[in-house]
Amino acid sequence: MTEFEALEKRISVRAYEKRPLAPETAAELQAAVDECNAAAGLHFQLIDQNAAKKPAVKLAPGMFSGEVYTCALLVGPEGALGGEMVGYFSEKLILKAVALGLGTCWVAGTFDRKSVTPELGEGEKLWGVVPIGYAAEKVPLLQRTIRSRIRAKDRKTEDFVESDYPYASLPAWVRAGAEAVKAGPSAVNQQPVNIVYKGGLVTTRLWKEKKNEMMYNDLGIAKYQFQVGAENAGVRGFWNFGEDGEFIAE
Ligand SMILES: Cc1cc2nc3c(=O)[nH]c(=O)nc-3n(C[C@H](O)[C@H](O)[C@H](O)COP(=O)(O)O)c2cc1C
Repeated sequence: MTEFEALEKRISVRAYEKRPLAPETAAELQAAVDECNAAAGLHFQLIDQNAAKKPAVKLAPGMFSGEVYTCALLVGPEGALGGEMVGYFSEKLILKAVALGLGTCWVAGTFDRKSVTPELGEGEKLWGVVPIGYAAEKVPLLQRTIRSRIRAKDRKTEDFVESDYPYASLPAWVRAGAEAVKAGPSAVNQQPVNIVYKGGLVTTRLWKEKKNEMMYNDLGIAKYQFQVGAENAGVRGFWNFGEDGEFIAE
């Protein structure tokens, strides 16, 4: 599965099978975690309890069903930039897991923080966790309802782009990037990130007046999603960090 196919397939999985990962699969995830850490000085940690078949994290029973034996602890620097970097690389990791046939969910709130013991360096914090496991084939009604309720409030794709030109006239790769942003995860599905396309430059803007820290996770996630969407439409590029950091097409 390509990264773009994984992007199209990804949803937040809240129902898991009680089925451990094969050691090769866990090793591929560990390699992806190592890659993120090396690229950005992050401190992501993979909890692998597959051999012992012990839950890697305690998820809120009202939201999740089943068990996961693998979990990524998203540890990175505090502050807006740290949050954005954690978001960006968490999405890279999530798409890798989906491409391996696994289910994931970004979880900042609905888990028991005491059930994990992350290593924290100075100035670092645990931004969230990503349970990783096999999605249940038959999704229970509760989990189906949670997702459809929360995604029912989706914004229209054209609302994700701020430009002096009408949405339909924008370059296909910018529209593809915006569609990918819309398809991505965001905290409580707030979708707080807009793509700004002005004077031929692509930047971002957090459009909600009231800001919170998780929006910086959403910002990094949106940037990664945009990059994968744009690349699938033929334009490779990379982002500078920060809300007004530019997308540089290669
Ligand atoms: C920063 C962040 C924090 C999140 N925290 C939680 C959480 O605590 N519990 C949960 O069930 N989902 C959480 N989510 C998942 C979102 O609810 C989900 O991404 C959103 O509703 C869109 O649905 P989708 O991911 O299925 O497309 C979080 C997502 C992000 C990006």
